[in-house]
Amino acid sequence: MTTYLIRGARPLGSDPADILVKDGRIAAIGDSLSATGAEVIEAAGLVALPGLVDLHTHLREPGREDAETVETGSRAAALGGFTAVHAMANTDPVADTAGVVEQVWRLGQEAGLVDVVPVGAVTVGLGGGRLAELGAMADSAARVRVFSDDGHCVSDPALMRRALEYVKAFDGVVAQHAEEPRLTVGAQMHEGDRSAKLGLTGWPAAAEEAIIARDVLLAEHVGARLHVCHVSTAGSVEILRWAKSRGVQVTAEVTPHHLLLTDECAESYDPVFKVNPPLRTDADVEALRAGLADGTIDAVGTDHAPHAVEDKESEWAQARPGMLGLEQALSVVIQTMVEPGRLDWAGVADRMSVRPAVIGRLGEHGRPLAPGEPANLVLVDPSARATVDPAALASRSRNSPYAGRELPGRVVATFLRGVPTVLDGKATK
Ligand code: DOR
Ligand code: ZN
Repeated sequence: MTTYLIRGARPLGSDPADILVKDGRIAAIGDSLSATGAEVIEAAGLVALPGLVDLHTHLREPGREDAETVETGSRAAALGGFTAVHAMANTDPVADTAGVVEQVWRLGQEAGLVDVVPVGAVTVGLGGGRLAELGAMADSAARVRVFSDDGHCVSDPALMRRALEYVKAFDGVVAQHAEEPRLTVGAQMHEGDRSAKLGLTGWPAAAEEAIIARDVLLAEHVGARLHVCHVSTAGSVEILRWAKSRGVQVTAEVTPHHLLLTDECAESYDPVFKVNPPLRTDADVEALRAGLADGTIDAVGTDHAPHAVEDKESEWAQARPGMLGLEQALSVVIQTMVEPGRLDWAGVADRMSVRPAVIGRLGEHGRPLAPGEPANLVLVDPSARATVDPAALASRSRNSPYAGRELPGRVVATFLRGVPTVLDGKATK
């Protein structure tokens, strides 16, 4: 195994130091380290962070390998600075059995670019009617701890309660896609002045907030862990702040696109901006940034949602919701949070690595940059800027909402257990 000497990187943005990576671990951090036989990586000006962890990735395999595979999604993740991603369960077949989650987990191991951590479905076939075999998925080789029907809300409150009771037994968490379906029938975009003007059916903020309010009460009653996927409204942030002040075991994520973009994008009628939950208002974006800054929102989750051209490049109403996120997530966080001074690099590490790893109970990720720890880390050039070209992405799909946008930050290298998956900004395999 090659030994690497990373010279002069700034761990969490602090003063420059050398980082020695040996046998899969950080062997030493300090000034002027030397190691004979080590491969030297000149990292002056680069920030070193723990490898990023995504709680919310759609890898589309099995079933829609034309849109993404575990391998292409893993490559996109590594290029984005991730060392672990949670693969959502809305595949075909649905990841609702030990067999399917083990298959996804194995495909991730074979690709070897990031740790692919399968999410198990809460209900059979995402149907919302009957609990899936949560215990069998937890006990499988994939060791599932996060359960979600993402794409669909677990809308039956009695079933949600039972899911929370069940996962509590093995320290699991239910990750809810908060959308009261009766309030979003036919919804196309955020419900407000713009949906009225464009004549598109609206998705009201209350449809998200009502489910979050209900579920934090259920989580409190049961004493179980709840995670809220892709929080998108100011009201949701207020409810989460209230729930946390009561000691409810609730965590939440925000997507990069909800931190940057608003419903103004829908005025283009370009379906690349169609997503669920929809892009909201300026006031919502501000509340989400504030919530991420003060920790009310624990994590950034990409909701990377690749779609094939025929599913996306159609009329707005026919297009599938979802947008790519893995490769630009860190850049969007730098632009919306770091450059405006709302989050420092330690904060980025906390929201994009430490806390998501804790929520997913991933012991080997989100660890401090310290001797003895697994060498899962990323080197970022914060001064680089680049214009996003969808054709150049590693994802098999092209539905990036950032096409043509100039964004800050470049991932120079990613290490997974001491092995570079990205070097000089390029995937190593
Ligand atoms: O926009 C979305 N796309 N939201 C979801 O909840 C599901 C996802 C997908 O699977 O495409
Ligand atoms: Zn979702």
